[in-house]
Amino acid sequence: MGTNFPQSHHLQTTHLSLPRKQFLSYVLYALLPLALLHYLLFNPLAAPKPPLLAQPQAREAAPSQHRHAPVNALEEQLPPPPPAPGRGGEALGETQGGDVSASGSASPPCDYSDGEWVPDARPPLYDGTSCGTIKDGQNCMAHGRPDTGYLHWRWRPRRCDLPAFSPEAFLRWLRNRHLAFVGDSMARNQGESLLCLLASRSRPDLVYRDGQENRFRRWVFREHNATVSIFWSPLLVRVAEKAEHAGVRHNNVFLDSFDERWMSRLGGIDAAVLSVGHWFLIPGVYHDGGRVVGCHDCADLNRTETAFFGAFKEAVRRTLAEVARRHGADSKLVAVTTFSPAHFEGDWDKAGACPRRHPYREDEKGLGYTEKEMRRTVLEAVAAHAGAGPLRFAALDVTRLANLRPDGHPGPYMRSDPFAGGPDARVQNDCVHWCMPGPIDTFNEILLQTVAG
Ligand SMILES: *[C@@H]1O[C@H](CO)[C@@H](O)[C@H](O)[C@H]1NC(C)=O
Ligand SMILES: *[C@@H]1O[C@H](CO)[C@@H](O)[C@H](O)[C@H]1NC(C)=O
Repeated sequence: MGTNFPQSHHLQTTHLSLPRKQFLSYVLYALLPLALLHYLLFNPLAAPKPPLLAQPQAREAAPSQHRHAPVNALEEQLPPPPPAPGRGGEALGETQGGDVSASGSASPPCDYSDGEWVPDARPPLYDGTSCGTIKDGQNCMAHGRPDTGYLHWRWRPRRCDLPAFSPEAFLRWLRNRHLAFVGDSMARNQGESLLCLLASRSRPDLVYRDGQENRFRRWVFREHNATVSIFWSPLLVRVAEKAEHAGVRHNNVFLDSFDERWMSRLGGIDAAVLSVGHWFLIPGVYHDGGRVVGCHDCADLNRTETAFFGAFKEAVRRTLAEVARRHGADSKLVAVTTFSPAHFEGDWDKAGACPRRHPYREDEKGLGYTEKEMRRTVLEAVAAHAGAGPLRFAALDVTRLANLRPDGHPGPYMRSDPFAGGPDARVQNDCVHWCMPGPIDTFNEILLQTVAG
């Protein structure tokens, strides 16, 4: 699958006209074996089944356990009771992170996107033992990741303060409210980070999940009547997902058709966090008004390549416009998380795919062309709806801070004991999602300031 990816053809037909630097950045994503990229982004299950590699049989057994977990086995997957009060909390205190009103509308909003990572000795609010909802692929500590330095950095914006995450403050805001994460596996990663952060103070009960693949889930913090849900919608608009087994290697994306699986539920949702991007890099055929208007990585369809940026822009722009049309008079927040960069450096199937153990300094690592374009699209789409009414749009502008964290991905520790097969064994690496705990918790520090703003 991934090995016969028609790289040279793809690149020739795609972006010859891009300036060299932009071209190279685009190529970083284009060269990722598609099977791997798709696999990483697609699989909403707890335990993965790699498409390319022969795996020991013991590993093969894992996914089906999860997939077919009967509903009455749910108890086992629920998080344990909250840890004793004070664990990791003394350093935080109520006052520090709790003062969200300081970022109220009187003062100009802080630009959280401009800053640097600074050392931070405080322990994370949770780990794999205190939080039961960490997806297996992101549970880096439990999988034997030996270094812990990546846990001890704090994002410091240049011109303002970003308070540490306060579960108490977030739960106070979330009382009698419903917050939904909508999007691809990065949305899920962020939603699960929030659940763990909140679970350090209050226990969530899983009250709903879609039977098949955990694509739709909902938790309630009963003490607070606070609801968090996760909706699978990897392109925001309607998609007929590709199905390799049936010979369909493209997503069919319908730019003029909304994904009602979440859109129709917005009435009962007080705040939604939308997060998409990476799925637009997967081969796609774009439909609009009953016609095919473009496609990406589609040489096999004898069609001219169009860049995916345009489809991404249309999907985001039209989705926000539709939300505004349906809910313009409702008091709601719609936050859109900007693109979260991947950090593949070496061979994707070798240990060193994202080997760095420290954040970059800002001057070490600028944004690539793809990251810049994806980020700009979201910022512009959100700005187009600024100050429209009770319905509030906001960007969670995390692209730059995430770009500086090559050390925060699972890499080989997406699986337990990845080097059991010996030092030369091929291992799959995840340099897209984020370890939990990890840098993605910072996304939710910014979210807290945004919901309270
Ligand atoms: C509980 O929260 C939901 C929103 O998730 C809200 O609609 C409902 O009114 C709340 N219940 C009470 C008793 O306030
Ligand atoms: C591809 O498209 C071109 C022009 O539309 C056509 O001439 C050619 O026969 C097509 N090739 C195949 C294999 O369908």
